[in-house]
Amino acid sequence: MTSDVVSRIDALKAALHHHNYQYHALDAPIIADSEYDQLFQALLALEKAHPDLLTEDSPTQRVGSEPLAGFTQIQHALPMLSLDNAFNAVDIADFHERVAERLGQMHVRYCAEPKIDGVAISLLYEGGRFIRAATRGDGLTGEDVSMNARTIEAIPLVLQGDHFPDRLEVRGEVYLAKAVFNDLNQALIEQGEKPFANPRNAAAGSMRQLDSRLTAKRRLTMFAYSVGLVEGGNLPSEHYDLMQQLRVWGFRINPDIQQVNDAEGCQAYFDALAQRRAHLAYEIDGVVFKVDSLASQAALGFLTRTPRWAIAGKFPAAQGRTRVLDVEFQVGRTGAITPVARLDPVQVGGVVISNATLHNFDEIKRLGLHLLDEVIIERAGDVIPKVIRVAASARGLDSSPIVRPLQCPECQSELVQQEHEVILRCTNDLGCPAQQKERIRHFVSRLAMDIDGLGGKVVEQLMKAGLVHNAADLYALEFDQLVSLERFAPISAKKLIAAIDASKATDLSRFIYALGIPEVGEATAASLARAFPRLAALMAADEAALVAVPDIGPIVAAQISAYFNNTNNQRLIERLCQLGVVWPESDVLEAQPTPLAGQTWVITGTFDTFSRSALKTQLQDLGAKVAGSVSAKTTRLAAGREAGSKLSKAESLGIPVIDEAGLRSLLEQLP
Ligand code: IVH
Repeated sequence: MTSDVVSRIDALKAALHHHNYQYHALDAPIIADSEYDQLFQALLALEKAHPDLLTEDSPTQRVGSEPLAGFTQIQHALPMLSLDNAFNAVDIADFHERVAERLGQMHVRYCAEPKIDGVAISLLYEGGRFIRAATRGDGLTGEDVSMNARTIEAIPLVLQGDHFPDRLEVRGEVYLAKAVFNDLNQALIEQGEKPFANPRNAAAGSMRQLDSRLTAKRRLTMFAYSVGLVEGGNLPSEHYDLMQQLRVWGFRINPDIQQVNDAEGCQAYFDALAQRRAHLAYEIDGVVFKVDSLASQAALGFLTRTPRWAIAGKFPAAQGRTRVLDVEFQVGRTGAITPVARLDPVQVGGVVISNATLHNFDEIKRLGLHLLDEVIIERAGDVIPKVIRVAASARGLDSSPIVRPLQCPECQSELVQQEHEVILRCTNDLGCPAQQKERIRHFVSRLAMDIDGLGGKVVEQLMKAGLVHNAADLYALEFDQLVSLERFAPISAKKLIAAIDASKATDLSRFIYALGIPEVGEATAASLARAFPRLAALMAADEAALVAVPDIGPIVAAQISAYFNNTNNQRLIERLCQLGVVWPESDVLEAQPTPLAGQTWVITGTFDTFSRSALKTQLQDLGAKVAGSVSAKTTRLAAGREAGSKLSKAESLGIPVIDEAGLRSLLEQLP
């Protein structure tokens, strides 16, 4: 009986692997999707009934599994190199000349292929079975992303055909098709989240998900483009033939790979592909030319990071022409004001562009930009689209100058421009709702605390409802508070609470990044965490100690030091830790004094020098509980102008009342 089940399961697995191969590698399915689905369901049912017979290489195991705590590092057997760039015909001709000279040949055959805009991956197979996948990392060491790779259908779990080497490392590019990328961004925007800047970031972000179930939903695919380690077997002697062999073993190979001769052949391929670029289903940023003969490749060898036998011919940045409909001034998490041009939507290099950054107000002056001007915009690789220049002679009578803002568009406080700085800033750090919102959005973002389901719209809603004023408040949210909000069904409330809860266990570098210290990006946060494995030590570090950390200069050191010397930031960090945020080797921070601990405050009326929400946060940070109504338990009522019934109730109960001036002097005196 069991042996029957075993052979039935084996047959189903083999059939599904084969159909997967027909579909992805050959692009020639031989059965209908519904038939595939029937086989899949049959296998799923058998595996459910016989869980002991479930194996990792089963086609049913592509749905992802429990989140990992972190990625482990993998040393590449052979370094994963990058490519030198050729920006024009002369660069391509020079490349060919160098190659020909070194090889002592007049003519050289190349294999030309599209350069896919995705992320590199290394896949290891032993005995024809998928063993593990690694990212490129720094070229020498990558991260183990096997769980995520398994979810990608174009990555075979079991090789087809025969005569494959005992150990085989296949390398390629994981990417998202343009349509899939657009859908993903659309969905992110609808959820109020920040869309990915380009398909490459989307692919990289998806591969670095700790929860492979999320990766499984991203519809990633892959083209194989080379091999790394090869042991116990023979491979064809030319790159082009090697690609055909990889296809037979089950890998997806780009259909536009071609053999070409000399610089002329390379250039003709480049020109032809540039013509078709917008019509391809995926984003490319150029063409890769590789010396076809593997023996010649070996003879040419490589420089430190790039092979002498290959080059990337890069396409010029895609440009478009459109009209600036409006200019909005956005407030970032550090108060920086960024002008953003709202454009009449236009296709540039296959992507619809409707916004472009103008960086700062000086840039508007430099461009001489007026509203309703026609402009040339450019989208180059990973950069956000930008306005290059105003299209000459195109200014209409209806155009008007763009006025430099004097006040923050969100909190109306006066904008300042520091000496030697081009950036206009809102300096109302604590009171500006836009800054607060951006800080929280940054805190929850993918590379920071990675709280799913907390997009910009939800953050705004929570802030408007007075439930959240800073990042720490997220960890105090309760189910009942959420379900009372509009659009929050019990299921979504529960999900959000669970996501917030799950984010508590983090690592120090994410946590540092999440704080949103000016100038401290993901990489700097990682260096800081490495240099200061204990947060308390980082918080106490002076600028000299910070400058000693790799990649940190005096400007960044000053920002970091200023951030940690600010008592509001210290309280925020302390409260985050109190509310359960932890990381391995989490250090217990010296408790900050909480002078208002045990007190219950109520706030009423309007204040001139702070918003009610900022006041609430400040009181909470000092240890007070802030309640919504006055009762016998109230310690103190903070009453601004036009205080009404709460004031009379407090007076009738004999509860002390403090006005704005009194509050200010109290807050100044407290530590
Ligand atoms: S060959 C030494 N072929 O481009 C050989 N790379 O800048 C290096 N890429 O990290 C890789 N499409 O992720 C090769 N058809 C292709 C490629 C390709 C995209 C990426 C790859 C690599 C980067 C090199």
